Amino acid sequence: MNYLIIGSGGREHAICWKLAQSEKAENIYCIPGNYGISLEKKCYIHKLSDMDFESEKSMKELFDFIEEKKIDLTIVGPEKPLVKGVVDEFQKRGLKIFGPDKYASQLEGSKEFAKKFMNKFQVRTADYVSFDKYNEALDYLKSLNSYPVVIKADGLAAGKGVFICRDFSQALVALDECMKKSKFGKAGDRILVEKYLDGVEMSILAVTDGKKMIPFVSSKDHKKLLDGDKGPNTGGMGVISPNPVMNEAIYDDFMKNCLLPTLNGIQTMEMNYKGILFFGLMIKEEKCYVLEYNVRMGDPETQSLLPLLKTDLVEIFEKTLGDDLDSLSIDWLNEFSTTVVMASGGYPDEYEKGFEISFDESNADKSTKIFFSGVSKSGDGKMVTDGGRVLSVTSIDKNKLNSIKKSYERINNIKFKGAFFRKDIGINTEE
Ligand code: AMP
Ligand code: GLY
Repeated sequence: MNYLIIGSGGREHAICWKLAQSEKAENIYCIPGNYGISLEKKCYIHKLSDMDFESEKSMKELFDFIEEKKIDLTIVGPEKPLVKGVVDEFQKRGLKIFGPDKYASQLEGSKEFAKKFMNKFQVRTADYVSFDKYNEALDYLKSLNSYPVVIKADGLAAGKGVFICRDFSQALVALDECMKKSKFGKAGDRILVEKYLDGVEMSILAVTDGKKMIPFVSSKDHKKLLDGDKGPNTGGMGVISPNPVMNEAIYDDFMKNCLLPTLNGIQTMEMNYKGILFFGLMIKEEKCYVLEYNVRMGDPETQSLLPLLKTDLVEIFEKTLGDDLDSLSIDWLNEFSTTVVMASGGYPDEYEKGFEISFDESNADKSTKIFFSGVSKSGDGKMVTDGGRVLSVTSIDKNKLNSIKKSYERINNIKFKGAFFRKDIGINTEE
């Protein structure tokens, strides 16, 4: 079988790497991929001249490639093509693709859509109000007598459209960025003002065919840039799986108040959803609240989870698309997995690219794995930085501290100008 992965990050590298381990996989193509992916066995990267996944030209190029390479199944990494309706286009042509359609992708594409869905189907979440008029939002924020509140742009904003506002002046900045300065374009034309929840965050990915939903092992992303959860939000600076706070009571609560009501909603609304649903959770006094849905695998959660997966990934994709999740059991190694992300200096704001990445592999523990994100090959064949999050290292071990230690030992031997990583991934995660 030939597979196509859409996307270019560490998540896509991890998917390609895991698929390559399957005996069923002959060739794995990644559009556009990154240089690191092209170094994996069976894996090839390919660039389209138009990567918008919407225009006629872009879709024609994509479908020509699929025909030429005899692709059997496509897996979509990032949210943008899903929200634009890439799955609908494939299904119209009778092509197999793993991911929700355009309608169902609104669970990530519109925070208001997701909130209405959660309220309708009694999925536990924070209370909110939404506004599409600046003055009404302003009056509401002035009238509040308790802060913090969370202000969120309704649409996709690459993880940057969420503001934790400690007082009215911070709320005003957020409101202006969304609705006056249009920092997120149309995505900020509507905002949600949400109750602030204090607790421990958890990510749970689940696979669904629209009738059944099977959760993966839990994980903990570290979204803030700096140690001790300080600094701005990022796409994710590191992950530990399973999430160290997970216990039976939390799992039961998650199933009862988050996963099962969500599945009921997907079924009741007859959503065309064959893919991954990601629950971004806040855990407060052993109660789970859904902060957000993502309609795809997380990055860097995927880099942490897939090394723990014992089941053939091909089987998960095929049984989902074949409406056969009843016969799927997903098995995991009973170990910890720690992923540490190495980023360019300046990320998540402006950063320079093109710095050579050097590896001292003399003492490298080969049981650890490097997943590449923002890397490319320079004219003279060297690996150079080409993005904000450049690479990540994952290590697994039965002992949590060893899995953390091994990732840091490996990443300490990787260097490039301005390289930055958090030093506390997996540590103090119970707070
Ligand atoms: P989201 O994109 O909605 O997951 O929000 C990004 C991040 O903002 C989350 O990972 C949390 O750290 C934080 N966040 C979002 N909503 C809330 C909330 N209601 N209370 C506290 N923190 C939140
Ligand atoms: N790690 C969170 C995300 O993928 O959005």
